[in-house]
Amino acid sequence: MRIALLTTLPELIENNRIKEEVENLGHDFRLIDLSQFNFYAEKDQVNVEGLEKNEIDTIIVRGVFNSIKPISVIINNLQKDGTRIFDNNFIEHKYAIDKVTDLIKLSYSGVEIPKTAYERNFEYFPKKAERIGYPVIVKSTRSGKGASIFKTDSKSQLLKLIEELKGEDKKAKSYIMQEFIPYKYDLRCLVIGEHVYTMRRIPAKGDFRANFSLGGKVEKYNLDSKGEALAIKALKTIDMSIGGVDILITREDKRYILEVTIQLDLWAWRKLLERISVKYLLNTP
Ligand SMILES: Nc1ncnc2c1ncn2[C@@H]1O[C@H](COP(=O)(O)OP(=O)(O)O)[C@@H](O)[C@H]1O
Ligand SMILES: [Mg+2]
Repeated sequence: MRIALLTTLPELIENNRIKEEVENLGHDFRLIDLSQFNFYAEKDQVNVEGLEKNEIDTIIVRGVFNSIKPISVIINNLQKDGTRIFDNNFIEHKYAIDKVTDLIKLSYSGVEIPKTAYERNFEYFPKKAERIGYPVIVKSTRSGKGASIFKTDSKSQLLKLIEELKGEDKKAKSYIMQEFIPYKYDLRCLVIGEHVYTMRRIPAKGDFRANFSLGGKVEKYNLDSKGEALAIKALKTIDMSIGGVDILITREDKRYILEVTIQLDLWAWRKLLERISVKYLLNTP
């Protein structure tokens, strides 16, 4: 099979990992770099440099951050013409999913989440923090990989953090406040349709954030069926069929959904590509 990865971020290291996995599985690989998106169009014909017709069987769309609208129209058209597209909901969501919206959706659907507050003005943070109860996590609504996540144990620490954020010209609307969950297990589930692959993440010493990107250790984890059902429900709530779901489990076995993400961890690509012929993955028309 001829598999292409379509992206506007050709320099991402993940691209190379996907290439390796594609080639290990015996397929041809091509990178379609649309960072310099340009086209030529006339009646019944749209030519996009780098994206010649009929050359590819399957396209994986990942990391499209410029020219999003025209690129999604073009991908949509390729799909109609029979190219198999794995876009992980790109056409529909345009990566518009974000922590704020997701947490609201999860809450409505009856999924347990850490108590979460959002304010557009730093002035109101302490009041909401009281309502949540310390320690309070303050985290960016946008960045991932554990960046811009802070833990404050008291009002004075929160006020200090706010001053620092203001000093960096950060805006209140870019952050949420959250109850700190003293978790025993921090799990990342890769959900592919009804299949759930789970790893446990163990934070580096002295850190409460368990992200692999921050030096956390990972190991395979046998999640029970209750946990798998929770991960699937969380993903479905965000209207996705493939994605990552973060679950925190406490000593008392209380389970919280922390986030749902379109960012698949690197090892996940192997699983994904093994299943690439599965129909539900590919949104075949
Ligand atoms: N409310 C919380 N309680 C306890 N730990 C948290 C909380 N929020 C984040 N963390 C820790 O920080 C990590 C990253 O948080 P997360 O919300 O998943 O953001 P990111 O998008 O950066 O991965 C989590 O995996 C967890 O280890
Ligand atoms: Mg996370």
